[in-house]
Amino acid sequence: MELQIETPLDLHLHLREGAMLQQVAPFSAAQFAAGVIMPNLVEPVDSLQRLRKYRQQVQDACGDVLFTPLMTLFFREYSREELVAAKDEIIGLKLYPAGITTQSEGGVRDFDRIGETVSLLEELDIPLLVHGESNGFVMDREQEFLPVYSWLAENFPRLRIVMEHITTAKSVELLNRYDNVAATVTLHHLLITLDDVAGGLLQPDLFCKPIAKRPEDREALCQAVFRGHPRLFFGSDSAPHPRHKKECCGCAAGVFSAPVALPMLAQLFEANNCLEKLAGFVSNHGRTFYRINPPSKSAFLERAPWQVPESHGSVTSFLSGQVLEWRMKNTEQTTSNH
Ligand code: NCD
Ligand code: ZN
Repeated sequence: MELQIETPLDLHLHLREGAMLQQVAPFSAAQFAAGVIMPNLVEPVDSLQRLRKYRQQVQDACGDVLFTPLMTLFFREYSREELVAAKDEIIGLKLYPAGITTQSEGGVRDFDRIGETVSLLEELDIPLLVHGESNGFVMDREQEFLPVYSWLAENFPRLRIVMEHITTAKSVELLNRYDNVAATVTLHHLLITLDDVAGGLLQPDLFCKPIAKRPEDREALCQAVFRGHPRLFFGSDSAPHPRHKKECCGCAAGVFSAPVALPMLAQLFEANNCLEKLAGFVSNHGRTFYRINPPSKSAFLERAPWQVPESHGSVTSFLSGQVLEWRMKNTEQTTSNH
């Protein structure tokens, strides 16, 4: 049995730089037509010049495989000139509250001061992508941030806002209140809860921000995704860290899910009798909200069990050692943009 997915998109992806980029980019390029590339590098991607260099590095790391990097700029105060110049080369700005996750020290410290840049984004029709967590108690951080989303949605009604990697039932509720708000959902948050991370022996490979939540939160996410909510789309948040940064005292946050993303999504949707909703989640919903039309590329999966390797060089993959039911067969790329 075969499954064909037209132009699948990973709308939240960390590819890093240097040797790590070389190591991980081929996994995404082998499965997806395009990806939204996160800007939280050691030196954040916060200028057009830096963005162009990084985009080229990503493209080089993908070699001959067609993969469109949809670039983001790290949120700071930008002038109108800077944003006008960048508009055609970015999919949006990515906002991190300062210090909330990996490489986010240069993020926003004072939300009272973001209005000017946000209003330029609204005027120029540039989407705002947000890591929505407060610095409160770890299980409540996403919920405590929701008033910021409401403020943004109500005060900038023409601004398109993406709540990145939502993990709670409350976030799904908020999404339903505002048409100008969409959200990405990761693979791991559809599969795991805090119990999987810390209920038994601590599992560093499942530790990420936002932390996986309660069973009822996972259930609410699954329900909304499996029913085909039109403003929910896939963003893996695949975030590789070398093993010595995970299996140590002071484990870095991030789940490296790129090697298993599409096969495991197919397995999950099939197990929940909603395989027909997969195309919406990994392709159409995101294209519609972002109004993008990346070069088309079909992904083919076949039903053939394979065991996820224990490691890929210095990184350990999500679901390593497990046997998955679907595997990537090949992809077929066309050059047309339309
Ligand atoms: C991400 C990373 O490592 O860059 N980590 C994570 O736990 N998801 C950053 C992020 O998206 O929070
Ligand atoms: Zn991320």
